[in-house]
Amino acid sequence: MKLETFPKTVFLTGATGVLGGSILKDLLQSTSSHIYCLARGNDLANCRERVRAILHVYDSNGALEAEFLSRVTVLRGDVTQDRLGLSASTFAELQSHTNLTIHAAANTSLLHKYQRLEPINVQGTGRVIEFCLGTAEKNLVYVSTFTVMGDKTFDNSVRFQETDYDLGQGFEYMNYQRSKFRAEAMVREAKERGLKWRIFRPGQIYGDSITGAYPHSETQATGLFYDLFKTAMDTRVMPESYIHYDVVPVDYVSRGIIALSAGADNFFDVYHLTNPDAKTFAQVMGLLREIGYAIDLLPEEVYKQKLQRGEITKHGKPYMSTMLKAFNLWYFTSKISFYDSATTDCEYTRSKLEKLGVTCAPINRKLIETYVDAGIREGYFPSPTHSDSYNATRTQAVFSANLPIEQGCLI
Ligand SMILES: NC(=O)c1ccc[n+]([C@@H]2O[C@H](COP(=O)([O-])OP(=O)(O)OC[C@H]3O[C@@H](n4cnc5c(N)ncnc54)[C@H](OP(=O)(O)O)[C@@H]3O)[C@@H](O)[C@H]2O)c1
Repeated sequence: MKLETFPKTVFLTGATGVLGGSILKDLLQSTSSHIYCLARGNDLANCRERVRAILHVYDSNGALEAEFLSRVTVLRGDVTQDRLGLSASTFAELQSHTNLTIHAAANTSLLHKYQRLEPINVQGTGRVIEFCLGTAEKNLVYVSTFTVMGDKTFDNSVRFQETDYDLGQGFEYMNYQRSKFRAEAMVREAKERGLKWRIFRPGQIYGDSITGAYPHSETQATGLFYDLFKTAMDTRVMPESYIHYDVVPVDYVSRGIIALSAGADNFFDVYHLTNPDAKTFAQVMGLLREIGYAIDLLPEEVYKQKLQRGEITKHGKPYMSTMLKAFNLWYFTSKISFYDSATTDCEYTRSKLEKLGVTCAPINRKLIETYVDAGIREGYFPSPTHSDSYNATRTQAVFSANLPIEQGCLI
């Protein structure tokens, strides 16, 4: 069923990303809107192909191809450039058509320097705000992150609410958090100039909860949370940690954003799109163990020593991954402990979405197995080391992944 009240024309940034691709799929599926996507690429054809490739990840049987052809206009642009990299006439025409702007583009690296993130995440958001202020409705959906809580992320006395923003947090650990906090401030401040915003703060985004689909090779940024799983599977060790480890399916995030952007009664609201079924890191690693991956949780100090000595290995050889680079940076430069953390509260969002019929898959073996299965099919994850328990449920998982029967039988 289509959301009849949804704005007729949507301008979307970040459509070639993990979340933007899923937002595009859901806009095509559940609204009748025309969607203008801003994308980067060598030329317009390449931009269009990149948007289509991501859509295909989430719509693998091409059910939305006709909708894509008739309802999506791809524009070549860049949020770091004046007028978003568009010609003056295209920019003005786009402004005159747009009823809702969804800004999901960002540089999502948790490791980059602030100078590299700022032009995209902060100044880019400023340009999108200016664009939106020039539209008739001035209606902006801004995709922020639960990590705007900065260094409070590792303070176990904090329960970060949707109504929280400035807790006096610092941003010594991750420049990404600082850039997103600054961008969120700009969105909030633009209320004075007439901007009608809604802010969405997703948690750690994983693939589609039904198919497991995730654009591993189609996006430009390494999915750090997937890299963490892969590093755990390959090296068979992780630090013992009881941080709130969020695993939120991308379909819950995109459906949540769309459902909560359909009306006109909830401007200036903030939503936490984290998984309401909160789990610790140790519990999530336990689910990977249940599936058949031998992963030991080592006391944090022991893990750090092994990391420092280059003793995190695969088949006896030193291992390197984005996740290990991140651990090195965070343990030895930022001096963070991952033993425990704050919790992100999402009860307000969960109850609003439940009334709108949008629910989130819980973090259980079924969900993690869906992701593992999809990752193995793509050659991204290794097979489990103890395959007994895995094989017992694997057939089920393959069929639940919506594969054509013939393909399922071959596996
Ligand atoms: N992934 C998560 O777990 C997570 C968690 C919380 C919040 N978020 C937020 O959710 C949003 C989407 O994240 P994601 O995971 O989908 O990120 P992603 O996969 O890294 O995609 C980022 C998107 O932004 C685009 N982009 C980057 N620089 C741009 C520029 N200069 N001009 C125009 N577009 C540009 C990228 O285009 P290219 O393909 O050309 O690079 C891509 O489409 C971001 O705002 C992020 O901060 C994500």
